[in-house]
Amino acid sequence: MGKNKVRLMFMIAITITVVLLIAPPGFAEDLLQKSARINEACLRCHGAQGLKTKFDGKTVSLWVDEEKYKNSMHGTMPCIYCHTNITDYPHNNALTGAALTAQVNSECRRCHKDMTAVYVKGIHSRINPEKGRQNAYCSDCHGIHNIYKKEVAAATINHNQVPHTCAKCHEEIMHEYELDFHAKSVLLGGKEAASCVSCHGSHDILGPEEKTSMVSKENTPKTCAKCHLYPLENFANGKMHYSLEPTGDGAVSFWTLIFFTWLTIGTVGFVMVLMLIELRRKWINASKPDSH
Ligand code: HEC
Ligand code: HEC
Ligand code: HEC
Ligand code: HEC
Ligand code: HEC
Ligand code: HEC
Ligand code: HEC
Repeated sequence: MGKNKVRLMFMIAITITVVLLIAPPGFAEDLLQKSARINEACLRCHGAQGLKTKFDGKTVSLWVDEEKYKNSMHGTMPCIYCHTNITDYPHNNALTGAALTAQVNSECRRCHKDMTAVYVKGIHSRINPEKGRQNAYCSDCHGIHNIYKKEVAAATINHNQVPHTCAKCHEEIMHEYELDFHAKSVLLGGKEAASCVSCHGSHDILGPEEKTSMVSKENTPKTCAKCHLYPLENFANGKMHYSLEPTGDGAVSFWTLIFFTWLTIGTVGFVMVLMLIELRRKWINASKPDSH
């Protein structure tokens, strides 16, 4: 090593030491530690299960499950990256209800620009005229302090959890989906069959009457073909969601079910009657004195 290089390194070491000595305490503390300290302060109050407040006459829990939060995707992030309005205690700018939901979700969009670009094309980003809010916010599908990658079994967006997540708002469809062969597998933990998202997408979801929707007349065959390599003709033409009722879209399935149920009961009944006659014959024969 040349003399000049040694001198240079010595100078750098001195400079760093001097900066560390004169810097305010905590300067060298790495960001993670800082974040942990902030969160510790917040959790001193919000880590307590009993912490509550009143809003609109309703009691709202202010408890954050520390264990879940620390294991979540944002577990090492300072709380205030999402709760940007909280700057002091007592909180002068604490938000509640719809205002809190809207504020935090605007923070999701600030950091996740790619997903947001897709989300704004979908039906869930549109303002619901009845509720005066977006049809579904990020946090409606992803959760709050329990946001995980989809590979995590407990994630609200996990393949096997998704139907329950969508069902919070689409309960009727869920009942219909439960009758579907795909659901029979997915709800029991199967990974291959279609969950809601396999057919509808996740952020760019649109209703069947919109051309670019994955479930429009034009696109449905392509959507099924992701998994069914050689769809039969008309395979994708049937109604996907229906309820088993004597009239309407489910009528054919309903009467088919009734027919086969009674056919089965009839057949089994008939065979049992035959067996009883046969048994009676055998019993009579066996009770004859000359039998073995
Ligand atoms: C000394 C206890 C205490 C500390 C420390 C504290 N909070 Fe709070 N927080 C509360 C209370 C009590 C409320 C209820 C509203 C109020 O009184 O301002 C609240 C409300 C909130 C709310 C709004 C919830 C709602 O429905 O209004 C958020 C978000 C929040 N706190 C986040 C934080 C964050 C982030 C930190 C750390 C930077 C923090 N809090 C530190 C006690 C605390
Ligand atoms: C990834 C973003 C994110 C982070 C990070 C985050 N929160 Fe939240 N927080 C939310 C969302 C979303 C809500 C729900 C808003 C609503 O009510 O719709 C929420 C709500 C709250 C509430 C109100 C009570 C409730 O559960 O509705 C409190 C209190 C709170 N958070 C505290 C904290 C604390 C303390 C931390 C750090 C340990 C933290 N948050 C970190 C997103 C976040
Ligand atoms: C300050 C920036 C920031 C904010 C605000 C934020 N996130 Fe994140 N989010 C991240 C980072 C960083 C990761 C980790 C990325 C990684 O490790 O792959 C992440 C991870 C995620 C993941 C998992 C991604 C994956 O790879 O599977 C989801 C889902 C997610 N965030 C949703 C949300 C939602 C919903 C909100 C609002 C409630 C939110 N985020 C708010 C920065 C942020
Ligand atoms: C209608 C429900 C829904 C809404 C609303 C929603 N997401 Fe998602 N998001 C999902 C699902 C489901 C997945 C998993 C996709 C998959 O299985 O391929 C996902 C995946 C993600 C991922 C991980 C991407 C990856 O594949 O690694 C991020 C990040 C994310 N969403 C952020 C957001 C943000 C930010 C918003 C709001 C602007 C949002 N999401 C709104 C359902 C939703
Ligand atoms: C195998 C593919 C598939 C799966 C799985 C699926 N859908 Fe659908 N969905 C469709 C198709 C195709 C349509 C178009 C209308 C039809 O055929 O019923 C549709 C229509 C819809 C509609 C709008 C029309 C209506 O009937 O109200 C909603 C909402 C919907 N699905 C939600 C869901 C939810 C929620 C789940 C999961 C619980 C789900 N879907 C699972 C394919 C699917
Ligand atoms: C927070 C509630 C909420 C959640 C969660 C939610 N949705 Fe929706 N969804 C809505 C609302 C509200 C509409 C608009 C209904 C309308 O315009 O008729 C909608 C519309 C739709 C439509 C179009 C319906 C049509 O007839 O045009 C489909 C498809 C759909 N959602 C599927 C899903 C799927 C799949 C999931 C889960 C990944 C999901 N939704 C999660 C509230 C939600
Ligand atoms: C994510 C992959 C996937 C998608 C997308 C998908 N399916 Fe399936 N489907 C499956 C699997 C796997 C099975 C076998 C389920 C079982 O019996 O466990 C199946 C079974 C079926 C069956 C029962 C008969 C059979 O072949 O076993 C029908 C009918 C069917 N799917 C129709 C559709 C239609 C129509 C669509 C499009 C609207 C569709 N599927 C989309 C994976 C998928």
